[in-house]
Amino acid sequence: MTQHTFDQFLFVGLPYICLVVFFLMTIYRYRTQSFSYSSLSSQFLENKQHFWAVVPFHYGVLIITAGHLVALFIPRSILAWNSHPLRLFILEVSALAFGFLTLLGMVGLIVRRLGNAKVRAVTVVSDWVLFGLLLVQVVLGVAIAVFHPWGSGWFSASLSPYLWSIFLLRPDPSYVTAMPWLVKWHIILAFVIVGYFPFTRLVHVLVIPNPYLWRKTQVVRWYGKR
Ligand code: HEM
Repeated sequence: MTQHTFDQFLFVGLPYICLVVFFLMTIYRYRTQSFSYSSLSSQFLENKQHFWAVVPFHYGVLIITAGHLVALFIPRSILAWNSHPLRLFILEVSALAFGFLTLLGMVGLIVRRLGNAKVRAVTVVSDWVLFGLLLVQVVLGVAIAVFHPWGSGWFSASLSPYLWSIFLLRPDPSYVTAMPWLVKWHIILAFVIVGYFPFTRLVHVLVIPNPYLWRKTQVVRWYGKR
């Protein structure tokens, strides 16, 4: 297999396979097993380590994901923001800090599931595969921030056009084929996680209980001894 064919597979074929699996399976699972759309909380089984793992992980991953989406949707604004070195530096340092927070939370999630017998008992193979993929993805992200800095700039200039070329069905892998391997693996793994998403507990991201933000508080009364 030539390098060209290999790149075509990794940066065109694989992304489309993963996106098609994502859309079809997400809809299929929702229509056939809508009650399985949950993060299946294990808070009742263990609640101390839970807080120190789930909370930092979510603060980290949500802010990092939002950062990727901003660079995807308004890359020119990011480049304009970065035109001043101090602002570029603030963005990079903040992103790295949230990357470390995500990593800390991710390690906490794994240690908790390994260390607590009750939580381990409710952890299935797909959870372990998911945690492994997420851990490697977060480590790659932090490694990229450390070894290939100024990512907010080159993401906006090269990765954003690549991703749009995929979404708009005019795939152009030449934006990414000359990138360092750490970056290439981060892209490949991102698509693999998207394809694996509908088979895992990650589906909870699609059913955030937004009404909790504005619905009336629930009053619970006990009659008699608790
Ligand atoms: C969109 C907003 C999100 C909300 C409201 C949310 C909410 C939750 C909740 C309530 C749990 C259950 C925690 C428990 O009680 O055990 C959970 C678990 C989890 N979430 Fe999220 N989540 C969100 C986004 C994400 C994202 C973007 C990821 C990305 C990778 C993610 C990955 C996970 C994982 C891996 C778990 C399992 C943790 C464990 O139990 O070990 N979540 N999430």
